[in-house]
Amino acid sequence: MAKKVGRSPKGDTKPEITPTTPVQIAAAAICARHGNKPDELLEIFHEMQHDLGYVPEETLPIIAKALNRSRAEIYGVLTFYHEFHRHPVGKHVVKICRAEACQSMGTDELCQHAESKLNVPLGGTTADGAVTIEQVFCLGNCALSPAVMVGEKLYGRVDPKRFDEIIAGLEKEAAE
Ligand code: FES
Repeated sequence: MAKKVGRSPKGDTKPEITPTTPVQIAAAAICARHGNKPDELLEIFHEMQHDLGYVPEETLPIIAKALNRSRAEIYGVLTFYHEFHRHPVGKHVVKICRAEACQSMGTDELCQHAESKLNVPLGGTTADGAVTIEQVFCLGNCALSPAVMVGEKLYGRVDPKRFDEIIAGLEKEAAE
């Protein structure tokens, strides 16, 4: 993160942030495309995730400055929405619901199975970068618990066998 120290009109020193790294420059450009409007923050995050794969921590001061908001506000919004990634993720993101309805239908066992099948903890990415598994809290598919989402596709009543089939489908897709 590049910081420059400038002087405010009152003469006291104040840190000034300028984009220097490629992701910071990309973030500044995305904000500019959205007119640096604070009410377009979610669209900005979506665009960053689409372009960069995640919302890097180092871009938050750039976004805050562009939108004339505090870093805490930007960070608060980013962390409130679970759909935004703050770290690089795999080619496929497999979200496993752990909210109440799915809990009652065995999602804990499903999570344990997923961790052992892919050999990564929840929140982790397989060594080949193919799959990230994440826990989420309600996918709006409670009637078909346990629920799993891969990209935009929703799966219901996912037991360990069905989970393996989903992963096999991703592997097959990657091999084609
Ligand atoms: S509780 Fe899992 S989809 Fe709603």
